[in-house]
Amino acid sequence: MKLIIDNANIDNIRSMYEFFPMDGVTCNPTILAKEKRNPYDVLKEIRDFIEDGELHVQVVSEDSDTMVEEAYRISKELGKDTYIKIPTNKEGLRAIRSLAASGFHVTATAIYTQMQAFLAAKAGASYVAPYINRIDNLGSDGVRTAREIHDMFRNYGFQTEVLAASFKNSRQVITLCEYGIGATTISPDVLELLIKNDSVVAALHTFRDDFEKLCGKGKTMLDC
Ligand code: G3P
Repeated sequence: MKLIIDNANIDNIRSMYEFFPMDGVTCNPTILAKEKRNPYDVLKEIRDFIEDGELHVQVVSEDSDTMVEEAYRISKELGKDTYIKIPTNKEGLRAIRSLAASGFHVTATAIYTQMQAFLAAKAGASYVAPYINRIDNLGSDGVRTAREIHDMFRNYGFQTEVLAASFKNSRQVITLCEYGIGATTISPDVLELLIKNDSVVAALHTFRDDFEKLCGKGKTMLDC
């Protein structure tokens, strides 16, 4: 499962890349707005840092022709391997089909239903992004939706992968990881929760205390 960071703050991204085995960065207009700078300035900084890692950037227009034009501008500014995030509505489907046919990598986003995912995959999307937590908040089951989309793609032999998004806890991520979905995109705070564990902290304290009783305060295997 690819592990992608859902954020556009370069300090957060550097920090997450330093400690976690990251595969790329996703963002959306809301995430970009938090940076309060020109979007391309922010995104070029991210592109330079992650080099050829996956970068997923969303269009903002509401009609398919302008979505396609935005995709060309994004690609020109940030490289042709940039994944273009297209919302999966009727206009979006038209844009996905056109861009995929022209060789763009497309991530179909704002996925709430299996049917949206099926149509986006058939139109040529490389990824579909179901919004796990937002689906949960509609009284449905985001993890189940993502698993059913994954199964549907396997049943049809589609190359399209699930890029699950919108997580609020580590359990949602781990369940999808166990299931073998293609990728998850996770905010820095939820990413931290994947490794935060007070039992591990307690075990390590005991190891250190015992070693210091043996060899003296501050001693390690380097200088004992
Ligand atoms: O890009 C979509 C996804 O990041 C939404 O996440 O946390 O705003 O529901 P969230």
